[in-house]
Amino acid sequence: MMDKDFISGLPKAELHLHIEGSLEPELLFKLAERNQVSLPYANVEAVRAAYDFSNLQSFLDIYYAGASVLQTEQDFYDLTWAYLERAHQDNIRHTEIFFDPQTHTDRGIAFEVVIRGIHQALADAEQQLGLTSRLILCFLRHLSEEAAFATLQAALPFRSWIVGIGLDSSEVGNPPEKFKRVFAKAETKGFRKVAHAGEEGSADYIWGALDGLGVERIDHGVQCVQDPELVQLLAARQIPLTVCPLSNTKLCVFDRMEDHNLKQLLDAGLRVMINSDDPAYFGGYLNANFHAVWQALKLSREELLQLAKNSFLSSFLSEPAKLKHLHEIEQYARQV
Ligand code: HPA
Ligand code: ZN
Repeated sequence: MMDKDFISGLPKAELHLHIEGSLEPELLFKLAERNQVSLPYANVEAVRAAYDFSNLQSFLDIYYAGASVLQTEQDFYDLTWAYLERAHQDNIRHTEIFFDPQTHTDRGIAFEVVIRGIHQALADAEQQLGLTSRLILCFLRHLSEEAAFATLQAALPFRSWIVGIGLDSSEVGNPPEKFKRVFAKAETKGFRKVAHAGEEGSADYIWGALDGLGVERIDHGVQCVQDPELVQLLAARQIPLTVCPLSNTKLCVFDRMEDHNLKQLLDAGLRVMINSDDPAYFGGYLNANFHAVWQALKLSREELLQLAKNSFLSSFLSEPAKLKHLHEIEQYARQV
């Protein structure tokens, strides 16, 4: 079997996926028509051509504009279902999805509309595709602490549908400590905690997420290599880093995939795994991310297996469910 097929068939979990970032240009146009929203693009090709980013902010501007076509519960259902079907094709067995409620509530869309649509698609995917999931609410870090508190309040009636909270959007200038009190409040409500840190921001942002917010996973985290003491701590505590290779090259965090530090992180014994972040914008879903790093960094089968195992080990699944998936990976490795 070719390594490419080995990757495709490997059972995987995805832990860093923004559902708004899975909005493909075709669905963007369909929803724009359905909701009578006018788009600044003539066609799907023009949209794809606009996805040429120089940094995180240049992406975020287009990503938030795209979300304006999402208006009804059905729209959020269709968006989520499209991702889940695509994830299923990539042999993703479990996915932990971020959503950005403030992107929608700030446009007058009720929190309830957003979460009901997403939740129903997740429930249907578990039933029909056997694909399990968790939902993580992200606060937009360029907005205020007060706005984050209001969002947390709006989430409480749906507490049982949301496993945890995260932090995304413009990193530099918006350090984790800005949300220390919101994260502390969320912890009292039993939410698990993660945060984007060390994508464009320095290693200090990772320290801030760990010490200031008490997160159990770091999203991206690739800038940790700036600080050997931090790398040592991440390794010793096996704190997961949800690495997103195609995102990192599209947003110029690394110039070329050959320059990506994923292998360096693996070699340092860090609990890293591969994720697609915003696949509709960055040119590929999970298997495409695996293929890209495998090819550029010449990863071995052992390393590919380790990445897949790390994805389940780092998830919010129960311990028995993790063991079941690890066992399936081992069986797969023996068969092929
Ligand atoms: N970083 C920060 N904010 C985001 C991202 C990201 O990679 N994707 C969607 N929002
Ligand atoms: Zn992200």
